[in-house]
Amino acid sequence: MPRCEAYSSRLRKGERAIDRLRDCVTGMTELRTERLTLTGVVPEDAAFILELLKDPGWLANISDPGVRNLEDARAYIEDRLSKSLWLVARDRSSDPVGIYGLVDRKGLPHPDIGYANLSRHAGLGYATEGATVLLHHAMHVLGHKVILAITKPHNVASRRVLEKIGLRFLRTVQLPGHDRHWVLYTTQIEEAAGANGVGT
Ligand SMILES: CC(C)(COP(=O)(O)OP(=O)(O)OC[C@H]1O[C@@H](n2cnc3c(N)ncnc32)[C@H](O)[C@@H]1OP(=O)(O)O)[C@@H](O)C(=O)NCCC(=O)NCCS
Repeated sequence: MPRCEAYSSRLRKGERAIDRLRDCVTGMTELRTERLTLTGVVPEDAAFILELLKDPGWLANISDPGVRNLEDARAYIEDRLSKSLWLVARDRSSDPVGIYGLVDRKGLPHPDIGYANLSRHAGLGYATEGATVLLHHAMHVLGHKVILAITKPHNVASRRVLEKIGLRFLRTVQLPGHDRHWVLYTTQIEEAAGANGVGT
């Protein structure tokens, strides 16, 4: 089962892949919604990841990680995506829509839920549908007590998705290594108050 081996190998290197490895051990290598199938991101997904990282929506709202070719994309998957992100598609044989997942982020005391679609799949309710099952999995299967999310203040589509899946705006924060401000959302206002970012 290659997706599980990737998580075991990350864990052996001392990296945090425990949530996804636990999913593998318990057989949770796939999450499903009415329209979507979520599976782990693997190096074989490099062509799609390269396209996603060049998408105007990604570049405007997330970052440019400097991934320019398939080799870069494979390395980016190994280093950044394979331990926590899910590839989202209508089904296993169709082209992927985007990647969603939980990220451990410096300055945040709880996992950060995130999602990104190719622009041509926007406005179809996919992010809301996929993030809903991911949130349920995080809280009721993995046992996380609080889930956070950060997004750029002007990212109205992302903020709307967070509200639709039940997160609430907590405050504006600045995180270590970032000079910009983010809006911070949480599943539980009281317990998330310890987030280390500099509140404004
Ligand atoms: C954010 C993103 C994942 C949303 O995906 P999606 O599948 O289109 O989201 P959904 O269709 O589930 O919901 C989008 C909601 O935002 C609303 N929306 C979208 N653009 C909007 C705008 N400019 N102004 C107001 N509302 C807007 C939609 O109407 C919808 O709300 P509704 O169901 O109440 O009508 C997608 O736009 C994307 O990939 N953006 C680039 C990457 C990104 O920003 N990721 C988040 C980083 S934190």
